[in-house]
Amino acid sequence: MLQTILPEDEFIQDREGESYLENLFLEIKKEFRGRPDELIPLLQRVQASLGYLPEKALLEIARFTRLPAAKVFGTATFYTQFHLQPVGKNIIRICRGTACHVKGGARILKEVERLLGIRCGQSTPDLKFNLETVACIGACALAPTMMINHHTYGQLTSKKVEEILFKL
Ligand code: FES
Repeated sequence: MLQTILPEDEFIQDREGESYLENLFLEIKKEFRGRPDELIPLLQRVQASLGYLPEKALLEIARFTRLPAAKVFGTATFYTQFHLQPVGKNIIRICRGTACHVKGGARILKEVERLLGIRCGQSTPDLKFNLETVACIGACALAPTMMINHHTYGQLTSKKVEEILFKL
């Protein structure tokens, strides 16, 4: 996988640069055959390297797999795991399922929005956090819940949320 020593903001601009994408796809073409059924793994691979899926990368995937660009863009926008814009380093997902709603999930969302100064669907300007909601994260007994990256936090209170975010 490509490594970088660039500061985060320069890295984000550079990730869309021709040479970075060229090098990335040289690596990818060694790992994949370009079959249409590799579309999802290819999107995952590119996102793992770039942090999101810029338009140029989606067009390159379309060329590589010989799929219509509309199919590649359609797939990338259909699945919530894919991001077409740069996202924060820490992806926060607040559960808005029924159990969490009953236990104050909306309050937790408001508290996170207040602490980070962003609304749901946005990233902080320094790209440290990205805030989203999800239907249910499968830990209803711990409601209200949220996930940060791959870690689940339950029985949340405003105070607990503040402590969790402060440590990141
Ligand atoms: S409803 Fe929130 S974890 Fe299931």
